[in-house]
Amino acid sequence: MRIPMIAGNWKMNTTVAEAVALVEEMRPGLDQIDNVDKVICPPFVSLAVVKELLKGSSVKLGAQNLYFEEKGAYTGEISPLMLAELCDYVIIGHSERRQYFNETVELADKKVKAALKVGLKPILCVGETIKENESGRTEEVLSRQLSLTSKQAYHTGLVLAYEPIWAIGTGKSATGEQANQTIGFIRRHISQQCGQETAQAVRILYGGSVTADNIAEFIKQPEIDGALVGGASLKAGDFLSIVKQTSSFKRGK
Ligand code: PGA
Repeated sequence: MRIPMIAGNWKMNTTVAEAVALVEEMRPGLDQIDNVDKVICPPFVSLAVVKELLKGSSVKLGAQNLYFEEKGAYTGEISPLMLAELCDYVIIGHSERRQYFNETVELADKKVKAALKVGLKPILCVGETIKENESGRTEEVLSRQLSLTSKQAYHTGLVLAYEPIWAIGTGKSATGEQANQTIGFIRRHISQQCGQETAQAVRILYGGSVTADNIAEFIKQPEIDGALVGGASLKAGDFLSIVKQTSSFKRGK
């Protein structure tokens, strides 16, 4: 049984004051919903204050990135150890990092290993560009992006997020069937690499223009275990509705 997960990726949005206001607005509603792992990922500078606000809450905290070294002369970077004090999860390999900050499969893997070493659970993002999709290379690209992820990582709580790059922030989501099919491919791929048991245990989320209006389409698909939500996670009402619908659907209502 895979517990569904909804994770909110706030990206480079919210000042500390805005983050506090948003958490205060969504926390009471989120705490009333069970059967779903709820995660919010505010910017680094708000993590400490949000951690305080989430004391006693079932909502978990995640970061959006990390560096793989433990400490040292890496000006401007944030280490796994620093985050382990604050968070449970960390997003790794988001397409915006791959695209704007030249993050490679190798770098993402170093980050995954560094996160796991200190007990942080990675939310590893994979996905193809529109060009790769249209030229029929989606499976090849995803296989490459997953090529370094170990069986041990899957068993230590790593969560995958399939985010087709053409669907992120564009308002143009994949259809539920499309996403289900591709996530089904990812599961078969993991099964070949690491065995059926591992493939059945790993949670795979869909991400890309998920809203309160379209979440049902994704969540009713058997392969999709939840969503990584960008834009809609910045509105308390929308995020709550996404989490609520996920809870009821996966409960079989
Ligand atoms: P979006 O972002 O929901 O705004 O498309 C999703 C993501 O990038 O994780």
